[in-house]
Amino acid sequence: MATTLKIGLFGFGCVGQGLYHVLNNSKGFKADIVKIAVKNKSKERPLEKSLFTFDKYEILDNPEINVIVELIDDADEAFNIVSYALSKGKHVVTANKKMVASHLKELYDLQHKYNVSLLYEASSCGSIPIIRTLEEYFDNEQVAKITGIFNGTTNYILTKTISEKLSYEDALKQAQEKGFAESDPTNDVEGFDAKYKAIIIALHSFGVFSKPEEVLNIGITALSNYDINYASEKGYKIKLIPTIKKLDNDQISIFVLPKFVDKNNHLFSVDNEFNGVIVDGEFSGEQFLKGKGAGGHPTGAAVLSDISALSYGYKYEYKKHEQHNYLEFTNDVFVKIYFRYNTEIDLQKLNFAEITERYSGGEYNYVVGYVSLQNLIDNRPYLLKNKLFVAIVGDEITNKKADILKLNKTASEKA
Ligand SMILES: NC(=O)c1ccc[n+]([C@@H]2O[C@H](COP(=O)([O-])OP(=O)(O)OC[C@H]3O[C@@H](n4cnc5c(N)ncnc54)[C@H](OP(=O)(O)O)[C@@H]3O)[C@@H](O)[C@H]2O)c1
Repeated sequence: MATTLKIGLFGFGCVGQGLYHVLNNSKGFKADIVKIAVKNKSKERPLEKSLFTFDKYEILDNPEINVIVELIDDADEAFNIVSYALSKGKHVVTANKKMVASHLKELYDLQHKYNVSLLYEASSCGSIPIIRTLEEYFDNEQVAKITGIFNGTTNYILTKTISEKLSYEDALKQAQEKGFAESDPTNDVEGFDAKYKAIIIALHSFGVFSKPEEVLNIGITALSNYDINYASEKGYKIKLIPTIKKLDNDQISIFVLPKFVDKNNHLFSVDNEFNGVIVDGEFSGEQFLKGKGAGGHPTGAAVLSDISALSYGYKYEYKKHEQHNYLEFTNDVFVKIYFRYNTEIDLQKLNFAEITERYSGGEYNYVVGYVSLQNLIDNRPYLLKNKLFVAIVGDEITNKKADILKLNKTASEKA
């Protein structure tokens, strides 16, 4: 790759402008933004008019431009832009997690076919360098599990509901006023955003391709004061946690669910809009990364780091996929959950394999027990519609029903 990078930038919103600012304030690194493509013709721009275009091909077919930086908010159009650029032999940097997670295999194949590099550090947990950490530091060591807080908006809401006792609705409103949450917060609060990141991280940690439609995401929209009180009484915080875990039989389980987190967990102290990632290496043990998961400057900094990596010819090697392409994605696991419900029908729906704790009161009921992930997937629409709250309890994930009895026995012996 030529040392002087000539950039064609798509999008000049929060991250595009953040990148522009970070790039102009970074010493010792030279890259020129040749052209910026945007969408809205009537919007005022803070830079010279001649720098902007509304025609994507003015950038994509410009032979002077050797790097495409894709920072638009439309995942379908982003895929059109990125796949076209790769097929024209241009290297690409993107922050678009939905686009990357939805087309991972195609993007992997395109990079090989055209011998080009696609980097997307900013797509997963903003400024936290998780993908390059997995690619470079954990390239040979096996990873056992990855968990974390991958979404700043939900973490902000959850922090405010627990520490300031705000209601879910008031905390969401505050997050929107502060610009953390969009006017339609579905992507964040229902766990889609965290799921896209988990899918990307699962490829770099375990070499497994998974699709958004096969990975469970249940967010925090059903959270009530009953659940907050339950957590507070036990000294827990509630966090929205993606889990990516290798099981005994060379299978990988991935899901996004709220979780009760105790004070021994690194994620307990990750509050407000911050993100955190715990990588559990088979030999190195737990490594914990914390940082700003969103915002123009932190995300712009991650994009700049990828642009800089391109200047020395960096490519993801996807070593974990090359080494472990026998690992398979599965939803055939049991997890231990807290389930707050209204009626016996609600409880029957989830068909618990084992119940370890039960409460029935005048106002609400809950159980704690083991349930199959597939049952949660099948009943996701029912849970959302009826605002029934589910949260992971503890760290037990097993793919064998017999293990549940063993886990249960060990837990009661410990108690
Ligand atoms: N915001 C964050 O903190 C953050 C963090 C990590 C990753 N990301 C990801 O980064 C990307 C950009 O997010 P953002 O927050 O910067 O979005 P944003 O503020 O809404 O800006 C989006 C930009 O994309 C432009 N655009 C939309 N459709 C386009 C098209 N078809 N052709 C050319 N330009 C188009 C818009 O043009 P106009 O200016 O004309 O409207 C605007 O400049 C998204 O994929 C997002 O998921 C964001």
